[in-house]
Amino acid sequence: MKSSTASEYDEIFNRQGRYDQGPELNARWFAAWDEVFAQLHAFHLTGDVLELAAGTGIWTQQLLRSASTVTAVDASTEMLAINQAKVARPRVTYVLADLFSWQPERVYDALFFGFWISHVPREQLDAFLRSCWTWLRPGGKMFFVDETSCPTAAPDRSVRRDRQIEARTLSDGRSFEIVKNYYEATDLAASCVRAGFDITIRQAATSFLYGFGTRLPSEGDNETLDTPPPHRPCHNQSGPVPWSRTSRWRPS
Ligand SMILES: C[S@@+](CC[C@H](N)C(=O)[O-])C[C@H]1O[C@@H](n2cnc3c(N)ncnc32)[C@H](O)[C@@H]1O
Repeated sequence: MKSSTASEYDEIFNRQGRYDQGPELNARWFAAWDEVFAQLHAFHLTGDVLELAAGTGIWTQQLLRSASTVTAVDASTEMLAINQAKVARPRVTYVLADLFSWQPERVYDALFFGFWISHVPREQLDAFLRSCWTWLRPGGKMFFVDETSCPTAAPDRSVRRDRQIEARTLSDGRSFEIVKNYYEATDLAASCVRAGFDITIRQAATSFLYGFGTRLPSEGDNETLDTPPPHRPCHNQSGPVPWSRTSRWRPS
């Protein structure tokens, strides 16, 4: 199979090839995933669920256990193609879009993003979460998961370039730079609260951190996207996609 960023992503998840860290570390890795899967299912995201940066479908499959529908958004055609082939369910709608400029035409019952928020630049975190608030109905649930500052996903392949940028090398030798922020739980919680969420953030057994909560209503909330949020949302921001510095990872 041709090596690509998208297909290599599942090798990381499955701990295959160069991402195989041996029985003990692999077991800890899978236990951490199982913990987050269990917490996600306990939180029970129902109705029409919006999944941001859906990737290869690891979470899309999990979301379908409780959701009526899933709208899976990602900027990569390759990621969405793998997701669609793997998940193969008519209840999933795929949207190719850049999350820093995309604006949905409706609000959703629940929102999920896995291993995405670490790719949001620090200066855009508040605005991104405020956009999430506008995409949810009042009382709608949000769940997210990401890595903390001791990442277990092949750390030897990542080189920190500056405060927000990491360089990564693929199996085929190609390398690229991405925005990667290992947010502290307290910073994430504060930003969620500023955006209008009631949030709980927990540290999983290994290096995962997950948050779950609900979108609080605002005064005069009418459950439509017409209500102007107090803060400027991401979709009003201009400029290049800040998640990645390479054309390879930009929306195609
Ligand atoms: C680390 S992967 C996470 C994938 C999936 N959520 C998971 O946990 O398996 C990050 C994903 O974000 C997508 N992505 C990167 N920049 C994006 C952007 N500006 N808008 C939407 N998706 C983007 C990538 O294509 C990739 O699928």
